[in-house]
Amino acid sequence: MKNVVVLTGAGISAESGISTFRDTGGLWEQYDIREVATYEGWLKNKELVTDFYNQRRKQLLEVEPNYGHIGLAELEKQFKVFVITQNVDNLHERAGSSFVMHLHGELTKVRSEKYEQLIYELTPDKYEVKIGDVCEKGYQLRPHIVWFGEAVPMIEQAIEITQKADILVVIGTSLNVYPAAALVDFINQGTPVYLIDPNEVSINRKNVHVIKKNASEGVKILTDILLKEYIQ
Ligand code: OAD
Repeated sequence: MKNVVVLTGAGISAESGISTFRDTGGLWEQYDIREVATYEGWLKNKELVTDFYNQRRKQLLEVEPNYGHIGLAELEKQFKVFVITQNVDNLHERAGSSFVMHLHGELTKVRSEKYEQLIYELTPDKYEVKIGDVCEKGYQLRPHIVWFGEAVPMIEQAIEITQKADILVVIGTSLNVYPAAALVDFINQGTPVYLIDPNEVSINRKNVHVIKKNASEGVKILTDILLKEYIQ
C-alpha cells in the first residue's frame, strides 16, 4: 500500500461549523492571540484562557465530522493514511481515521501546568475545566495546546512520517504557522502534492496539483484521482 500523508488545518473542519483562524470572521479576528494562545496570556489571566478553551470544547461537542474527514478515513481501504493535523478538534478520530497526529495539541486533554507529562483526558460529560482543578501533584490544569512561542513536541515524528510519503495531501491550511508549514519541505523530490483549499495558498514545491474546492468536495475529487492513478 502507498503511504498517503495528509497535513490538515482549520479549513477541513470549517464545513463542520468550526471557524478557521485567519479567514474573514476567523477566530483571530475575534480574539487576541496574545491573550488566549500564549503562555504569557495564561500567566496574565488563567480564567480568561480557561474559559476560551471551555467554549471551544463545548462547540466541539455540538459539531460532527464532514465528508472531508470521512473521505480521508475511507481512503484507508486502499492506502496507508497518516493524518498530521494542526487542529485541536477530534473530528478526524470521530470520522474513523486510525492514525492521527496532533501537532498543536488536543482540546479534549488538559495537563499540569508544572509537570507536562501529567496529561488527563476530559470526557463529554465533564469537559469544563475550572480554576482550582489541579493535577495529582496539586498544580493547576492548563489546556493541552501548543501555544505560540511554545515548542512543538511532535515535530520530529511528523518529519519522519512526511519523509516516507509517496503522496502528500495538504488540506485547509494557510501554511502560515511554523514548524508545521515546513513539513512540506521534507517530502522527496518528485513526490506529488495535492492541495485542497478554496482559496489561494502559496506552496513552494514542484508537482503540486491544486484542487480549488472546499474540503468535502475536494476530498471526493482527490479520492477519484488517487484511485485512478494508483489502484485501478
Ligand atoms: P488558517 O485559518 O490560517 O487557514 C485556514 C485555511 O483553510 C485557509 O487557507 C482557508 O482558505 C482554508 N479554508 C477555509 N474554508 C475551507 C473549507 N471549507 N475547506 C477547505 N479549506 C478551507 O488555519 P491553519 O492553517 O490551520 O494554532 O492555522 C494554523 C495554526 O494557526 C492553527 O493550528 C492554530 C492557529 O493559530 C494554534 O492554535 C497553536
